[in-house]
Amino acid sequence: MLSKVVAKALNKQVTAENFSSHYYLAMASWCDTHALPGSAKFLYVHAEQERTHMMKLFHYINDTGGHALVESFKSPPEDFNSIEQIFKLVAQNEKAITGQINDLVNLCLEEKDHSTFNFLQWYVAEQHEEEKLFRDLLDLMKRTGTDGRGLYFIDKEIGGLANKVTVKG
Ligand SMILES: [Fe+2]
Ligand SMILES: [Fe+2]
Repeated sequence: MLSKVVAKALNKQVTAENFSSHYYLAMASWCDTHALPGSAKFLYVHAEQERTHMMKLFHYINDTGGHALVESFKSPPEDFNSIEQIFKLVAQNEKAITGQINDLVNLCLEEKDHSTFNFLQWYVAEQHEEEKLFRDLLDLMKRTGTDGRGLYFIDKEIGGLANKVTVKG
């Protein structure tokens, strides 16, 4: 049985994952309309992934005696400047999510909620992977640059990554 405080914190994370999904969807749409098909493909897949993260939490809350909520959140921006800016924003968002997951884990320890602590380990591992992925992408962008051929190369490379990613949940 979830304590009120853990249920509330998990619902907050549901909203954060839902926001991430919409955020990446808005980025995908910008790339799609700015001749960046590889990045668009990658971000569409990533937006779906974030939705699975949300649903996993959603079901856990209801399966554990809580009540999963669909709460509103601010709309993501629709305009971006560049592919570089987009992936910097993604990396920033993932870093913030890692912080929120860590706070949740700490809360479970305080509340002696071992079941939720165990459930959250999946998110701890996922955030580790995601932070590495986006750090590597930003490093690659620094090396190739994002002008002319560099932009073509990096967009193709990012599109290729989308094929390797499967939507997990
Ligand atoms: Fe996520
Ligand atoms: Fe993520």
